[in-house]
Amino acid sequence: MTGVPTATPRPEDVSLAGRVVVVTGAARGIGRAVAETAASFGADVALLDRDPAVDEVAERIVSAGRRVVVGHLDVRDRPAVVEVTQRIDAEFGGVHGLVNNAGGTFVAEFMSSNERGDAALVAENFTSVLDVTRAVVPLMRSGGSIVNVTSSEAFQAAPGFAVYSAMKAATEQLTRTLALELAASGIRVNAVAPDGMPTPGDESLAAEVAERSRFVPPPRPPSGDFAPPEAAAGVVAFLLGDLAGFVTGASISVDGGLRAAGGWHLRS
Ligand SMILES: NC(=O)c1ccc[n+]([C@@H]2O[C@H](COP(=O)([O-])OP(=O)(O)OC[C@H]3O[C@@H](n4cnc5c(N)ncnc54)[C@H](O)[C@@H]3O)[C@@H](O)[C@H]2O)c1
Repeated sequence: MTGVPTATPRPEDVSLAGRVVVVTGAARGIGRAVAETAASFGADVALLDRDPAVDEVAERIVSAGRRVVVGHLDVRDRPAVVEVTQRIDAEFGGVHGLVNNAGGTFVAEFMSSNERGDAALVAENFTSVLDVTRAVVPLMRSGGSIVNVTSSEAFQAAPGFAVYSAMKAATEQLTRTLALELAASGIRVNAVAPDGMPTPGDESLAAEVAERSRFVPPPRPPSGDFAPPEAAAGVVAFLLGDLAGFVTGASISVDGGLRAAGGWHLRS
């Protein structure tokens, strides 16, 4: 890693050639787009997902000439996370980028949910981020860049998503603290807060909201249109690369202005 930029940025500074990037939740949606973008910028990648469709993403990246390690695992499974990081280290001899993207939720107002649902959401959206980060950071021997994928819901009331949004807010806070603690190791830590990307996960949630929520989000982003997950992938690639060498502890919204628009309201 090159660290803080000192010269005029060059187009080649966006390159991730010679880097190894680990992406969780890489089988579809934002994680798939991030993995394919990192590979097209020159990185070798480790793709972690519980969905076997991750193999198709790996095949496309391998045929484009990059090296890939695949981990078929649930990121909530701590021993499996440790095992896969050992395999990544043996194959690549280190890691430069980590994108903590795996996450998800279901729609239920707080008083209609229960302890089991809470525990699943905490593990899915927060504890797994802790475990993956703790396992991967020791592999960042020459510095690195961590990008945590959070949500616009980390910053606003999110009816039907109380625990999910609290865990995304916790990950935003973790991002800031780790930025300080890991700076001495040359590791930058930032967050990307997406919204308005109709991925498979997002579309099934939107259908649940339309069917049974008392609340509605803004109908469209102020920018006018929803965006594909590639909109987030470009920003993640920027944060992984040298152009962002002086960016740490930051959070970038990639949501067409949804966060600025002010959030959920009662259905009329
Ligand atoms: N799409 C959006 O507009 C949006 C908005 C806000 C936040 N996000 C966040 O972005 C991230 C990606 O969301 P997406 O829209 O691409 O979702 P998605 O459901 O389409 O894709 C998520 C991927 O992660 C994998 N995954 C989820 N939990 C996992 C686990 N425990 N172990 C292993 N793999 C797991 C899934 O198998 C899937 O391949 C999530 O953290 C989500 O909360 C997305």
